[in-house]
Parts: sequence; C-alpha cells; structure tokens
Amino acid sequence: MEVIVCRSVEAGDLVADAIERLLGRKPDATLGLATGSSPLVVYDELANRVQAGTLTLRSARAFLLDEYVGLPADHEQSYRSVILRDLVDRVDLDPARVLGPDGTATDLVGECAAYEDAIKAAGGVDLQLLGVGTDGHVAFNEPGSSLASRTRIKTLTNQTRKDNARFFGGDAEAVPRHCLTQGIGTILEAGHLVLIASGRAKAEAVRQLVEGPVSASWPATALQLHPHVTVLVDPDAASRLERRDHYVETYDAKPDWQGL
Ligand code: GLP
Repeated sequence: MEVIVCRSVEAGDLVADAIERLLGRKPDATLGLATGSSPLVVYDELANRVQAGTLTLRSARAFLLDEYVGLPADHEQSYRSVILRDLVDRVDLDPARVLGPDGTATDLVGECAAYEDAIKAAGGVDLQLLGVGTDGHVAFNEPGSSLASRTRIKTLTNQTRKDNARFFGGDAEAVPRHCLTQGIGTILEAGHLVLIASGRAKAEAVRQLVEGPVSASWPATALQLHPHVTVLVDPDAASRLERRDHYVETYDAKPDWQGL
C-alpha cells in the first residue's frame, strides 16, 4: 500500500495522471467510479484535460460502486445522476457505457447478481476510485460487512445517513435506508485501488485503514489485502497516522518515472 500525503488538488493531478497512463496503454479500460466529495478533485482534473483536448475517455467504460434503493435514476441524488453531473456530462465518456446497480429494480437480489455478471463480462475493473466513510465504510459496505462480500442489498447506518443528509436538505430521514453496493470481495478484484480522503473527520478511518488490524469493524482495512493500493490523504486526514513521516520520506524518495 502506498500512502501519499498531499493537498487535495495534487491528489487530483496524480490520480488523473494514473488514469491518463492507463488509458494510454489501454484506451478501452474500465474505470470504477465513486461518488461523494473525495473524488471530485479527480473528476475536475479529468474534465480539464478532456476539455483541453489532451485526454479522451471515448473508448473507456465505467461501473459505479453503489446506489440508493428506491431513488429513480433521474432523482437528483441518485448516484447515477450524481456521477453524470460530477463527471460524465463534463467529459467524452459515453453515458451508455457507465453502469450502476439499479436501485429501483423489482428483483433487487437478481439485480445484484446481474451487476456482478456485467462487471465480469467487461473483464473487471482496471482502476477503482474510492472514498472512505467516517466509520470506515467503502462504497456502502458498512462496519460488519463481510470482507468477502459481493454486490448485495445493505442497510445504511444512522451515522452514514447523518453524514449524507447534507445532500438531502440536511434531513437524515430523507436519506434512503437501503442501498445496493459492490461487496468488498468485488472491489478487491479491481486491478488498482485508489482511495482519496481529506479532512480531520476521516483521520481515524484512515489510521485504521492504513495501520489497523484487518477487521470487518473497519471495512476499509480490507484494502491491506490487495497488492496494488494507493491512498492519497491530505495532512488533516493523515494526522493520526503513526508512521506518517515514513510515508512522506518514502514518497519523497520515489523515482519520478514510477507512477502510482
Ligand atoms: C458515501 C459513498 C462512498 C463514499 C463515502 C465518503 O456514503 N457511498 O462511496 O466514499 O460516502 O463520501 P465523501 O467522499 O463525500 O466523504
């Protein structure tokens, strides 16, 4: 696991560089997209590069991590709408090649199985963007989630509903109680996991994810089991890391030619 302590804008540049390199060697790469505020710096930078004509996502495809149950796709807070707004509408990625689980399907269990099949049929995810919840959730795998889990229905914790109330007019009760989410086992099959976190509220989740014991109580700790993980954290999110100085020295000593 590589830990990079940097300002958020720098994280946006570094991850956009990694995506650009991936698309350079594999133009039809599959990206795993995350919603939330953390990946926005990456989406802004991708949009800049596409608008400047130096990058194209024309042949790429993408899968979303998760979706609320019960919100129609055109609801402004469905993750489908969020990702269209935050990224797809600003770049040349074909919306038809961006898939997410359908939280309004009548057969939600069947929908989850079909979503797993679709990821497999696409050859898996090459680069998966991730954020982390203050309680250590990744995608919507809340504490207690099986570390081998696949895409399934989950119940959101009150903490997550409170955290996400800001998108629903400040009303935690308006945040759906259920979601469909890729499982930890699903996420761990992506080729490269890139997690971004900023702010003091994430400091404990980051400490657990980087230095804590692997445990379903902090689902993000499962990333320690993956061979290619990059964690980009701002100084506040890094503030509880015991080996922070070592990560900084390691990154400073990294040869320029070696990407993420
Ligand atoms: C949400 C999403 C996650 C996201 C997390 C953190 O609940 N389901 O994918 O990583 O919250 O969000 P943010 O980046 O806004 O802090």
